[in-house]
Amino acid sequence: MDVRIKKTAEEMSLEAALIFAETIRKKPNCVLGLATGSTPLKMYSELIRMHKNEGLDFSRVITFNLDEYLGLPSEHNQSYRYFMNDVLFNHINIKKENTFVLNGTAKDPQLYCDAYEMLIKALGGIEIQLLGIGGNGHIAFNEPGSPRNSRTRIVDLTKETIAANSDGRFFKDPKDVPTQALSMGVGAIMDAKQIVLIADKTSKADAIYKTVEGPVTEDVPASFLQEHQNSIIIVDEAAASKLEKQYA
Ligand code: GLP
Repeated sequence: MDVRIKKTAEEMSLEAALIFAETIRKKPNCVLGLATGSTPLKMYSELIRMHKNEGLDFSRVITFNLDEYLGLPSEHNQSYRYFMNDVLFNHINIKKENTFVLNGTAKDPQLYCDAYEMLIKALGGIEIQLLGIGGNGHIAFNEPGSPRNSRTRIVDLTKETIAANSDGRFFKDPKDVPTQALSMGVGAIMDAKQIVLIADKTSKADAIYKTVEGPVTEDVPASFLQEHQNSIIIVDEAAASKLEKQYA
């Protein structure tokens, strides 16, 4: 694990954006794994800026998102498809047909999830996967208890995750949040050639401590990243505040 502590969320976002931009420049037809949530917003703004001001070219880039609420149609303003269009895809020159977000209204969700993974494999796998982290250490929607070998599937959301996503930023009322989602599994995420996890704010400090310095355990799904050969954890000082060891 390469742990990088940055002073601010802005610096964290810039560092992550630079890593993704370098991957795109080196391999213009690369396959990126993308994430939702508040944490990647500044990073996505920076990628948009790089596209507009520096010509960062997304015309051959392919993307796969981690997860989607079960039952929400893509047009719903809280669907992750809507979110990704709104905060990134509508502002860069990516072809919409090259952007894949799990379909929350698929008729046969498990068959659909299997096909999603097959498509990733057929395209050569994910070059670089972006992750945020939940306060309970979840990655994508892999809640505590998700096995290391879990694949893309239907998952139940914990009360904590439902509350975190209805605190006014996204859904207004916990009752509006779907209780299930489709999520790439831990095993599917670990298949990425490189993984970049970003986290800011003190609310993530405990999860980051457990992820980086705690035991590798299903109880903290992000801790499996300790076993990935090319994982980078970029955090601001607030999210790093419980780490005990020294990092660059
Ligand atoms: C949701 C998403 C995760 C995300 C997490 C943290 O549960 N499924 O992919 O990492 O929230 O979100 P935020 O960045 O808003 O704190």
